[in-house]
Order: sequence, then C-alpha cells, then structure tokens
Amino acid sequence: MKIYVPRDAAALGVGADQTAEGIVAEARRRGIAIELIRNGSRGLLWLEPLVEVDVGGTRMAYGPVQAQDVAGLFDADFASGKPHALSHGATAEVPYLKKQERLTFARVGITDPRSLEDYKEHGGYRGLAAALTQKPADIVASVTASGLRGRGGAAFPAGIKWKTVLSTPGAQKYIVCNADEGDSGTYSDRMLMEGDPFVLIEGMTIAGLATGATQGYIYLRWEYPQAKTALEAAIAAAATAGFLGQNIQGSGKAFELEVRMGAGAYICGEETSLLESLEGKRGQVRFKPPLPAIEGLWGKPTVINNVITFASVPIILDRGAEFYQHFGMGRSRGTLPMQLAGNIKQGGLVEIAFGMTLRELLYDFGGGSFSGRPIRAVQVGGPLGAYHPESQFDTPLDYEAFAAIKGMLGHGGIVAFDDSVDMAAQARYAMEFCAIESCGKCTPCRIGSTRGVEVIDRLIAGENSAQQEAILRDLCETLTYGSLCALGGLTPYPVISALNHFPQDFVKPSRASSAAG
Ligand SMILES: Cc1cc2nc3c(=O)[nH]c(=O)nc-3n(C[C@H](O)[C@H](O)[C@H](O)COP(=O)(O)O)c2cc1C
Ligand code: SF4
Repeated sequence: MKIYVPRDAAALGVGADQTAEGIVAEARRRGIAIELIRNGSRGLLWLEPLVEVDVGGTRMAYGPVQAQDVAGLFDADFASGKPHALSHGATAEVPYLKKQERLTFARVGITDPRSLEDYKEHGGYRGLAAALTQKPADIVASVTASGLRGRGGAAFPAGIKWKTVLSTPGAQKYIVCNADEGDSGTYSDRMLMEGDPFVLIEGMTIAGLATGATQGYIYLRWEYPQAKTALEAAIAAAATAGFLGQNIQGSGKAFELEVRMGAGAYICGEETSLLESLEGKRGQVRFKPPLPAIEGLWGKPTVINNVITFASVPIILDRGAEFYQHFGMGRSRGTLPMQLAGNIKQGGLVEIAFGMTLRELLYDFGGGSFSGRPIRAVQVGGPLGAYHPESQFDTPLDYEAFAAIKGMLGHGGIVAFDDSVDMAAQARYAMEFCAIESCGKCTPCRIGSTRGVEVIDRLIAGENSAQQEAILRDLCETLTYGSLCALGGLTPYPVISALNHFPQDFVKPSRASSAAG
C-alpha cells in the first residue's frame, strides 16, 4: 500500500509531518504494511496536507488531512480509495489539475524527489541524453527555436543569452541559477526544487554542454532550507550515477554543481547583485555593460537563468523545440507556472500555456476571493508589478499584452485583494518596499524612494493634494528613466497603477466630506 504525503514546505507549514507520522503510527497499530513516500506538492495548496493513496495504479486524493483525521481515514478504508468527507476522487481528475498543461511541473507531486530512479522512470534525463549527441550550437539553436524566454521576470530569450556565452571565448565559463525567488506571492521555484530537483540539475547540465561551461552554482535564498536539502541530495545522487562530474555518462564532458546560500536581500535576485553576492561581496548592482554573458562571475562568461527557465529545457531537448513552441500565444511560447496567492479561495500553482485570461485564472482556478467579497485589485508580477482593476481582468496572460497595459507578468506571481483593500496604503507599501530594499547605488532609487514615501504620506493626509500628486508623478518618472536597475525603474508600476485606477482611495472619506462641507 503506497501512501504519499508531501514534504513540500507549504505542506509542512500546515502539519504534513504530523500527518505522515500519524499515518505510520496508525498503520502500525492496525498491522497494515504501508510504503510512505514523501513527494512534492501537487500545488493544490488549499488542500494541503494532501494525502494520496495508490489504488491499483490510480492515485486517490484526500485533503486537507490533519493528524486527527488519520484514524477516521483508516476506518473508512481509504487504502482502497473508499469515500470519506475529505476525499476528492482520483487526483488526476481534480479539475484544478486536469485543466493544466504541466510541462515543467510534469513530475512535481508525482515522483519521489529523492529518487533518481523514479526521475528516470518518468522521463528524466532523456533531454540530457539527446543533448549529449548534439553539437553545442545545435543545443542552443533548439532552445532558441523553442521560443523559451527567461521566467525570472525580464522574459529575455534564453537561446540568445546562451548563444552569447557560447560565442564568447573563455577558458572557464559558468552556469548560475537564480533561485533567490524574492517576489511576493511566488513559490514556483521553491516547489520545483523541492518537488523535482533533478529537472533543474538536468537543465543546468544541458546549459553547460551548450555553452562550454563546466561549473554551475545554484544561488538559493536562505529562507528555503527544504529546497537546499532536496537539491543537495539530488546533486549527490546525480554525481554518484555519473550525471554530474568530470565525465558525464562517459562523454568526456564535465559539469560540476554546487548550492550557495544567499543572505536574504531582494536585490540579490537582480542578476549582477547576485554575482557580487556569489563572489562574497555585498549584494550591489553592477553597471551594464559588460553583460554577465560576457563578463559575469569572477569576470568570466556566465549564463544566469531562473530556476523555471533551466527546468523548462530538458523537455525541449527531449520532445523538440516545435513541441514546446506549439504552446502559448504571440511571442510568449510554452507554459508559465502561475502562482495564485493573496485573498483567493483556491491558492496554488497553475501551469498553463500563455494566453488564458487573468479572469479565468482568478475564477476558474482560484474560485474567486477567499473572503467571498468581490476581487477589487490584483497585483501581477511581484512587488514591482502593477495593480490591475477589474476592467483589466480579461487581459490574456502574455508578456506583450501585460506590457501594453503598463504591467508585467514577471515570475508569474498573482496576489488578489478584495474590496476591503486600501490602494493608497498599497501604493505607499510599494514605495516603502523600494526604500527598504534599495541597494543604494543610484540616487533616484536611494533618495527618491524615501522622498516618495513622504510625498505619498502628504498626499494621503490631504496636504495640498494636487501638488503632491504632481510631485509623485514627476518623481516616478525620474525613477523610471533614471534608475540603474529595475527595482527603482519598476517601482512606479504599482504606485502609479494604484493612483490611476483607484484615485478615490487617495482621498479619505472624512477629508472628502469635510471638503464638501
Ligand atoms: C530587483 C530585482 C530582483 C530580481 N529578483 C529575481 C529573482 O528573485 N529571481 C529571478 O530569477 N530573477 C530575478 N530578477 C531578474 C534577474 O535580474 C534576471 O533577469 C534573471 O535572473 C535572468 O534569468 P531569466 O532570463 O531566466 O529570467 C530580479 C531583477 C531585479 C531587478
Ligand atoms: S535602482 Fe535601486 S536597487 Fe537598482 S541600482 Fe539603483 S539603488 Fe540599487
């Protein structure tokens, strides 16, 4: 009898360890032999801890299962997939999962993240096998043809970056994975690293083969201890099996990989600050050029990509660029793992081809707000993303469509707010976030964000509002055009979108009525 209980941090946070211990103890008490597998999360976060039982090859879902529910599940004979108040039928048939198009997350929640054998049985390392038969330029050409764009936020074509590193001479080149995942409401990197670490390792190894880089680093945020454990176990298993090391699968090609922990700063997710931090320095943005692809880590040609970007590569090499290219719309090809968070009924991970609308995501998947009140605003793309009002909910999830409404998809984080939200407070929060997280290298961001908070405070207090609003807009323009990096450059997105779409929140009712009186 196989029982699956996630070891994912989100599941642990709601008692998955206690549930797992309860299952083991109850099975022992009843003399039932079980095999307990600690899998990744399926991404149905509102059902965590989600327990699955294998019934004749079909996995049946029960959730959320707390330790105190375990005896009742055994009484109801859940081992045979029998109904129970917590049962959801076959996991694969749960609509939230069934409607998804999981390419990058194909194995997450399904396999045992600690088992290389399980990974290979589910199609793992087929991409690397294909890459080992190809010339570096052909691997790069496949990634370019797939249309894969960076999933960390800027959506730069991965193949073009790889081509630059391939064509830049260098005795030593590096592959760096950006696993800093600092955006609010995002967790796809973490879920992937905890649930299927081998796919990231495989993707980075392919990047090494494609560009001639022999050393890789995963720069992991320190808040992800479970991901660290999962990655280190997987790296050790891959090395033992000859998938990492000096002679990958007898090819004579080398690729070594290490995990390095960040110290906890949003700016260390910005690629040049990340490199500084990896080199042991304070995380501060570098001037560009030179691009990291030409002079990156320790001045050497370096590919830096996000976790999801690398993890999308194995399937491209395995199934072909055309297969991947077939998903999506416009210049946004493939799938994006969207992460639903905030005031939402069914929060979780939704991997789907680009093109679905924000409304479909919020209501067909998310089920509307958690509070049951109308969703009033949605911040898409992390703390630097715009706040979108209901009138923009029919925008398709596509990089260009969001850019056209002065927003961005970023890393796919979606944070929903109901009609009790105060958007002036949100605007202030966005500006304050910039002030707190600024690396201090350039004046518009370092000084401008602090002055910006003061201006918003005066605006909200009703002190000469028209003038304060004009100053705020002017300041935001300076931040947009004068900042060295996107922290200062994009902070105006949430601030100005709040001001433009929700101007009434910047005029407090008491002031409005006293002004009218
Ligand atoms: C302030 C700031 C924070 C960032 N944080 C992250 C992050 O946490 N993870 C990430 O992958 N990219 C982050 N980025 C984007 C990176 O600079 C870079 O574009 C990315 O690592 C490139 O990989 P990709 O092309 O695969 O997206 C951040 C950028 C800025 C300006
Ligand atoms: S915009 Fe802010 S975070 Fe970026 S370089 Fe300037 S001071 Fe640093």
